[in-house]
Amino acid sequence: LGNGLATTPQMGWNSWNFFRCDINENVIKQTADALISTGLAKIGYVYVNIDDCWSLARDSNGQIIHDSKAFPSGMKSLADYVHSKGLKLGVYSDAGIMTCQYRPGSLHHEYDDAALFASWGIDYLKYDNCFNLGIEPEKRFPPMRDALNASGRTIFYSLCEWGVNDPALWAGTIGNSWRTTNDILDTWESMTAIADINDKWAAYAGPGGWNDPDMLEVGNGGMTYQEYRAHFSIWALMKAPLLIGCDVRNMTSETFEIISNEEVISVNQDSLGVQGRKVDSYGPEGCYQVWAGPLSGDRVVVALWNRCSHPASITAKWSGIGLELSTSVSVRDLWKHKVVSLKSMTSFSAQVEAHACEMYIFALVTEGRSVS
Ligand code: GLA
Repeated sequence: LGNGLATTPQMGWNSWNFFRCDINENVIKQTADALISTGLAKIGYVYVNIDDCWSLARDSNGQIIHDSKAFPSGMKSLADYVHSKGLKLGVYSDAGIMTCQYRPGSLHHEYDDAALFASWGIDYLKYDNCFNLGIEPEKRFPPMRDALNASGRTIFYSLCEWGVNDPALWAGTIGNSWRTTNDILDTWESMTAIADINDKWAAYAGPGGWNDPDMLEVGNGGMTYQEYRAHFSIWALMKAPLLIGCDVRNMTSETFEIISNEEVISVNQDSLGVQGRKVDSYGPEGCYQVWAGPLSGDRVVVALWNRCSHPASITAKWSGIGLELSTSVSVRDLWKHKVVSLKSMTSFSAQVEAHACEMYIFALVTEGRSVS
């Protein structure tokens, strides 16, 4: 969508994966505070997005009313607070008659609701797909784009149509991102399946509009450290939105280490904006996988992802990752934070733990000088 936003994938936090409907203004304010105090805001996590359950009903004038028990100070005051921290506030609504949690939907109220959100100072709208009366998403999502455009405020527009009707094929002129899949669960099976679905649509992502394989589960407890590291690595490589889904007020140091890896984040935020993809899979059930994609400055990101349940050596062949056979490269490990190889080779191999993902940037070496 050409509204000037999403030149790189959006980064921030969203309430749903951890809090579900158990949200209130203190949680949102404390989350904003934590994004600042942990340093996560400074490295790019600027959107604080309230998901479902902030609204209650429509009043007799047709205006959405917020849950005043949970948000006693009101949404405008909350936006002011979040803005005072240098962050941005997002809300959620639905392109149907109700949200998934039975709160008011915005179908046929698009202009009123967009104007209301703009009057509060909202910066981001996640727009869901429940109770849609069987109307095609291609018809229900553009009116809110037009209403947001007419609101006088530049608002990030995140489509949440669960991959219905292959949004990558039609959503590029409608939203800044579109969901390619059903909801993520905090499990290895769900995360890997979603990565594979999102991969199919790689060609359609780019500055202005990104494939959205759903929000991060890192830190929510259902996967191991290595699985979460793989989740974060692959989401970054796929140019997915990086929306933290855990309670950032109470993170473990392992969770923080994963989501604050600036080398991995820089892959996600690279100016070239090309979604990396699965370029090779071999071994038992194809569980030795190589994911790769081009970066700015003649660099290539390469992930060796072991989806087997035993350790394995995985090899990236130059042909699969777009390098010339004779290319001499430096290989920087984005989790070890150092150059691990610097030579002329025709492939690169590493030992990878079960369910782990090692991630590298390959940079061309010219005249003995490495560009790491
Ligand atoms: C749908 C969406 C989720 C979340 C919930 C809230 O399931 O896909 O991301 O927003 O609704 O009810």
